[in-house]
Amino acid sequence: MTDIVICEVGPRDGLQNAKHLMPTNAKKEWIRALADAGLKEIEVGSFVPPKLIPAMADTAEIVAYARTIPGIKVIALAPNLKGFQRALEAGAQKVTFPVSASRQHSESNVRMTPDQMVEEVRKCAQHPHAGVEIEGAVSTAFGCTMQGTVPEEDVLRIATKLAEFCDSVALADTVGYANPVQVRRVFAKVKKAIGNKLEGAHFHNTRGLGLANALAAYEEGVRSFDSSLGGLGGCPFAPGASGNVITEDLVFMFEAMGVSTGIDLDKLMTARKIMVQVLPQEQTYGHFALAGVPKGFRAAA
Ligand code: COA
Ligand code: ZN
Repeated sequence: MTDIVICEVGPRDGLQNAKHLMPTNAKKEWIRALADAGLKEIEVGSFVPPKLIPAMADTAEIVAYARTIPGIKVIALAPNLKGFQRALEAGAQKVTFPVSASRQHSESNVRMTPDQMVEEVRKCAQHPHAGVEIEGAVSTAFGCTMQGTVPEEDVLRIATKLAEFCDSVALADTVGYANPVQVRRVFAKVKKAIGNKLEGAHFHNTRGLGLANALAAYEEGVRSFDSSLGGLGGCPFAPGASGNVITEDLVFMFEAMGVSTGIDLDKLMTARKIMVQVLPQEQTYGHFALAGVPKGFRAAA
């Protein structure tokens, strides 16, 4: 058992926003390297119309491949019942639904209002899905580039509804608006309402506060974090969205603090090299990758 679980979302959140397609075989090699580095949860793609996001056209094949790798939980995103059915058919073990707290982002992203999207997820939860976990992820939970402020009551209301029928609920800072004080306040409020159903934190590093927000969430009791290798990522339907909190830096921070992640930083760098080689034009980020391991560094047990 590790102290925290880091879910790598690069193959989904990262590649959906990349300028170039990653070939299917390269995706497989990258996912294999991520698993070799010790990542136990990987969001490998999304089941959305291929015309809308061509980078996700091969997700069924990627899910099937990832299922052959022992010891990982294979996660996929779905925006509706059709996507959920495709995810079940492909063998996904957990399906994440983006439910935006901002009406404008929700309509841009899934062409449904937040309440319509909640009902879509409810429909999926009522569909037979033995053994497959359902996560409701409250997107734009800390602000929205289209709407601006997102009232905390809206986040609370959506999270509470999702908790009725989802196995877990996550809060996502889709466009990198959150700050650590806000993170602690909103997580505490939602936790008070739905208890342990509140699990994941999904931060973007758009304004450089990804790690600070992750630490704030950790201090509020969060033990499950999304991040992406090289800080790829961003929602194509949220103007101004950019990369996720950087997996390498997140792992380094927690390991240096003595909080075990189960992830090997050297092997993570190997996975990063594979990604950079396949997508050389893509902007990647990360302080750890530039600076390396400090002298005397000891990973958590
Ligand atoms: N997978 C594949 N095809 C799908 C699909 C899915 N999950 N959902 C719908 N389709 C198909 C329909 O069958 C229909 O096909 P047709 O034109 O051949 O009949 C077509 O797509 C349009 O279907 P409709 O239900 O009208 O969808 P829409 O155009 O209103 O789009 C969503 C709604 C939810 C499918 C779309 O907005 C979406 O995928 N959003 C997610 C975007 C995303 O990934 N954002 C980033 C992650 S948060
Ligand atoms: Zn995201």
